Amino acid sequence: MEAKTREMILVLDFGGQYNQLIARRVREDHVYCEVHPHTLGLDKIRAMAPKGIILTGGPNSVYREDSATCPEELFKLGIPVLGICYGSQLMAHKLGGRVETAPTSEYGKTEVEIIASQSKLFEDVDKKTICWMSHTDYIAAAPAGFRVTARTPACPVAAMENEAEHLYAVQFHPEVMHTAQGKTMLKNFVYNVCSCTGDWRMGSFVQETVAGLKQKIGSGKALCALSGGVDSSVAAVLLSKAIGKQLTCVFVDHGLLRKDEGDQVEAVFGPDGPYELNFIRVNAKERFYKKLEGVTEPERKRKLIGEEFIRVFEDVAQEIGAVDYLVQGTIYPDVIESGLGNSATIKSHHNVGGLPDFVDFREIVEPLRLLFKDEVREAGRELGIPDYLVNRQPFPGPGLGIRIIGAVTKEKVKIVQEADAIYREEVEKAGVQGLGQYFAALTNMRSVGVMGDGRTYDYAIALRAVMTSDFMTAESAQLPWDVLQKVTSRIVNEVKGVNRVLYDCTGKPPATIEFE
Ligand code: XMP
Repeated sequence: MEAKTREMILVLDFGGQYNQLIARRVREDHVYCEVHPHTLGLDKIRAMAPKGIILTGGPNSVYREDSATCPEELFKLGIPVLGICYGSQLMAHKLGGRVETAPTSEYGKTEVEIIASQSKLFEDVDKKTICWMSHTDYIAAAPAGFRVTARTPACPVAAMENEAEHLYAVQFHPEVMHTAQGKTMLKNFVYNVCSCTGDWRMGSFVQETVAGLKQKIGSGKALCALSGGVDSSVAAVLLSKAIGKQLTCVFVDHGLLRKDEGDQVEAVFGPDGPYELNFIRVNAKERFYKKLEGVTEPERKRKLIGEEFIRVFEDVAQEIGAVDYLVQGTIYPDVIESGLGNSATIKSHHNVGGLPDFVDFREIVEPLRLLFKDEVREAGRELGIPDYLVNRQPFPGPGLGIRIIGAVTKEKVKIVQEADAIYREEVEKAGVQGLGQYFAALTNMRSVGVMGDGRTYDYAIALRAVMTSDFMTAESAQLPWDVLQKVTSRIVNEVKGVNRVLYDCTGKPPATIEFE
């Protein structure tokens, strides 16, 4: 698929925290949007021919010599520009306005007064509206040719515009949900100012991608490591639609999956499923359990599982022989992070094992590299992948290996699988909404209990449920007590080896979401 043929909004990143959010908001409005570093040259920008440019926030002051900047010509390309926070100050600074340290910095929800009687950016926005502010500098005077369109008691230029030149600036952050009418403002920019029509639709993305893959791969062969997670499942189905049996998917069942998960993946991708492809399920449980015998240190477990995964995959790949393409489920947030050189933000434990050494392939193909996670799910729905795969919660690569504290054994895997299945079933049945992730873990603690007339000395299961949007921080969810009681009673009655159930009330930080 060629992104250039469709309408595009370009986000230039000046190091703000919300760059991805801006792109997601624009795409929610059905306009394709890409994030690039602020150093992207003018020639490249011209070649991309975006319908509009958004300058993000950033941590610096525009008047410092070493601050991220942009050429003044950026504002003279005839392409509409919206500057947000630092981006707004940069616009003011470059075009002859005055940016200063604000006497009072504003942080958090702030009432903003829209003073312009008519503004394309503020159409359908209330005269007084709550916006998210986070700044220590402000625009003290707008450049010539601009009119001030909004203010707060502490900020004389909360928004400004030069309609004739298509230049707009807001001191606050319309992309964050705390800005009550931020969605409307961004939509106004994209449609009213940039005259987009909204041609970013998942249905056409899927069609174009399948056609593009067909053309690129021709009669070649592709190999895909399928985990059953959302990304690899959607990538595999796109490939299968494009090249059918020329695709081989290898699904390594490491014996650390959730209850029945291996069979569920096989039901969809195996020979009885709806898709045309070669499906190889490798039942490697014993190999993994053997490797993990007696290993208690979490990072060591991760490493062993990751390495073993690669070895198993390589063994199969060697049997298959040379292929032309190796399919990877890379998604857009990974592309942005690596493109902007922020690789430090990717946790080491998420890179389970790197690329296999001995797989003979010519090129990597990444059909999802332009999509955000929610878009991957939408593509999955378009492709008719069952909901239970498309809506799956995140599940770590090392699987239950890091939800069993201490050494992993076959028996412990069974216990945590059963407990987790009961927990998920009851939470779903109760219709609890808004959970980012929830699961059962097996503690390494045994304690005394009583069952019937007998003494027991069994394990404690820990239940975890968190609310989070970015998985970097999380709050423990307040699950309804009756749900917890039901789950507890079912686990102690139905799962042999468990006599106690605990609920984890810790947030992240100081805990992590997983137990190891
Ligand atoms: P933590 O435990 O670091 O988890 O708060 C944050 C998110 O990352 C997932 N996670 C992993 N994913 N391999 C993965 O692929 C791992 O080793 C791993 N450890 C944690 C976790 O499930 C949560 O969504």
